[in-house]
Amino acid sequence: MGIYRDRFVPRLVNVACGMKANEPLRERVCSGLSGRVIELGFGSGLNVPYYPATVTSVSAVEPADLGWKLAAGRLAQARVPVERAGLDGQRLPFPENSFDTALSTWTMCTIPDIDAALAELRRVLVPGGTLHFVEHGLAPDPKVQRWQHRLDPLQQRIAGGCHLNRDIATIIRAGGFEIRDLDVFKGQGPAFIDSQSLGVAAAA
Ligand SMILES: C[S@@+](CC[C@H](N)C(=O)[O-])C[C@H]1O[C@@H](n2cnc3c(N)ncnc32)[C@H](O)[C@@H]1O
Repeated sequence: MGIYRDRFVPRLVNVACGMKANEPLRERVCSGLSGRVIELGFGSGLNVPYYPATVTSVSAVEPADLGWKLAAGRLAQARVPVERAGLDGQRLPFPENSFDTALSTWTMCTIPDIDAALAELRRVLVPGGTLHFVEHGLAPDPKVQRWQHRLDPLQQRIAGGCHLNRDIATIIRAGGFEIRDLDVFKGQGPAFIDSQSLGVAAAA
């Protein structure tokens, strides 16, 4: 499992998350980011081309070394300084009030203890700092939800710990964030994997 996770999953993520259909979503979710940004689950840097000019620096948190290597081309073109500053969203190596905004794209499905990661994000964001997110998760339709619960163990095995059935808005609110903007929609893929929540939440 170690070799699969280390050598294969980051490539799978680079291809699956790099789909053209995701590009307008990346543009939407990155708009409004500003100042010092923390990006949770940087992956292979697919958001780098979408950081707006209002961003002054990005601290990337990503456990996969291969993801970071696959990001090299995008990092070379980056318009703002980006550093790999942490390895685990559940334990952030930054003091309180270090960041103005935070970004998470298709990462809350995978972090094992997502409640701990949100508590950490709140700690390192300035009061009122915003979390910009686009995440797949639990579909609104109970029939789809049943399939999501059934397929979740398999998905976790093949996709590096990714869950299909996390209720993103509920998790974010329980983490002490106030959701200011939320768009829940089905993407172009099958509903069990493509029920998306895109929005902005403020650290309450
Ligand atoms: C589905 S990928 C999304 C990657 C990227 N955000 C994107 O949009 O292309 C999930 C990412 O979360 C990362 N991840 C897994 N566990 C993590 C943790 N504890 N802390 C931070 N990131 C984590 C994975 O290595 C992977 O790069």
